[in-house]
Amino acid sequence: MSPVRGARVDRMLRPVHRWVWGDFDRRVRKLLAFAEVEGDGGRDILRAAEVTPDPLLRRLYLAHAIDELHHADLFRQRSAALLKTRSRQFKALFSATPLPGGHGLDDLRIEGEPDHRLLAFLHVAEKAAASRFTIYRDVVADDPSTRAVFEEILRDEVFHMNYTYTQLARISPRSYRRQVWRARASRLWKRYLRAAAALAGLMGTLMLTIQYFIFLPPFAWFAKRAAKREPPGWTPISRHGSVSPNSQY
Ligand SMILES: [Fe+2]
Ligand SMILES: [Fe+2]
Repeated sequence: MSPVRGARVDRMLRPVHRWVWGDFDRRVRKLLAFAEVEGDGGRDILRAAEVTPDPLLRRLYLAHAIDELHHADLFRQRSAALLKTRSRQFKALFSATPLPGGHGLDDLRIEGEPDHRLLAFLHVAEKAAASRFTIYRDVVADDPSTRAVFEEILRDEVFHMNYTYTQLARISPRSYRRQVWRARASRLWKRYLRAAAALAGLMGTLMLTIQYFIFLPPFAWFAKRAAKREPPGWTPISRHGSVSPNSQY
């Protein structure tokens, strides 16, 4: 398979990617998020190397896992180097939610997954990563060191994308295309669920904000009016009151 040049949707979103990567804080945040995703993915693939019964796949998974862990180091080192160039504090940086990573390995499940399904998932994830990293490499042209990191990682991602496809075709010669389509559909479904959950959260916040500003002011107004009617200070209790003074209430 030929090296990717970025999926159409990513190419269309290039101005957005340029805007995201143009800001120093966002750039560091993205690199840190990538480091986390690559590291988690590397550990999961290491587990896949342990459990696969196929000796060739075991060797390939192991090499793949080493690559992903190396990518995590590269991203972490680059973000640390960028942070050193700034003297200001980044309190808000680490409390903010990281932007989604480009790899998609965070959805990876190893236990109970047969190799053909794992390879199909990895192929789709690696292809997406190669596509995204191609765009990111281009939009950080102003930062040669970050660009070099993407350049190096991109070569590995293209290899991962290709070997997973070749191996999938080897172990599932009759159904490898169907496996890839299924992995693509599953990935799209998970993305839809994430987007739907984010939208639901946004709508919930919006509804609560509207309720706060529409329903609360009348209650506050009534409470203030009732408070004005109350006499200030202590209130004498009637001698003929039925409530015992010893009562708790
Ligand atoms: Fe990677
Ligand atoms: Fe990869």
